[in-house]
Amino acid sequence: MTTTETTATEVATAAASGASATDRFHTDKSPFEAVKNTPTERVDLLAREVLSAVHDTIRRHRVTYDEYNALKAWLINVGADGEWPLFLDVWVEHVVEDVATDHRQGNKGTIEGPYYVPGSPECGAHGTIPMRDHEDGTRLVWEGRITSTDGTALPGTVELWHADADGLYSQFAPNLPEWNLRGTFTTDPDGAFEITTVRPAPYQIPTDGSCGKLIAAAGWHAWRPAHLHVKVSAPGHEQLTAQLYFPGDPHNDDDIADAVKPELVLDPQSMPDGSQKIVYDFVLDPEKG
Ligand code: DHB
Ligand code: FE
Repeated sequence: MTTTETTATEVATAAASGASATDRFHTDKSPFEAVKNTPTERVDLLAREVLSAVHDTIRRHRVTYDEYNALKAWLINVGADGEWPLFLDVWVEHVVEDVATDHRQGNKGTIEGPYYVPGSPECGAHGTIPMRDHEDGTRLVWEGRITSTDGTALPGTVELWHADADGLYSQFAPNLPEWNLRGTFTTDPDGAFEITTVRPAPYQIPTDGSCGKLIAAAGWHAWRPAHLHVKVSAPGHEQLTAQLYFPGDPHNDDDIADAVKPELVLDPQSMPDGSQKIVYDFVLDPEKG
């Protein structure tokens, strides 16, 4: 099944969204191509250190054969459920992102997560994201501008994608229009944009698959705070992947994916018509070399 061939009888199961996230990853990325010239010494070093961390944990905590077999079965199931993108993006990606962007002078970013889809509909510089006629959720009107680290205006694009008021992502949960709450905004020549969308709900990572089993067995919770995902691009500048959060969300301090940073929390203002206005700008770093 492809990501868009969902039927009216399907419900949002972990297996369905996991399989979609796995399909998506294989469609968009050729992950081995980018590392094909990695020296054997680096592979040897990384593989040995990861395995040795596992060995140390086993020795320190005297892991039993029953626990080893449960781990083996669980790892097999993560793959069968298609949940490797979910697992890695929730529990590993945030550290990769920190390392990849710690040289930046401009905006802080955060993880991409498993639900980005390239090529969302073009919405102009002042536009409304694709949504259903009676899309639930408080209307958000977001004004912003893209500049370079030296203050120069940067015409560019803001790709925005987020969950709906039920915490569901189009193309990964059934019965949603293909591009619901996914849009590409191309700024004015002075880098300015104004986006109308709705406020997303907090998001619970699927609990009915293997990641959910780990969460339950470890006594964790499955919540991410409500968030807007963005990719911000401008010629000659490093692309910024970020998420924006809302003040007061109970999960801003204990996000399962550890992806919240104080710089990424918005300051929405309530307007007389019931909508909320946000102002949030982006500063991008020039590409090096
Ligand atoms: C996951 C989902 C998200 O929406 C996100 O931003 C990060 C991770 C997940 O289910 O893995
Ligand atoms: Fe998300």
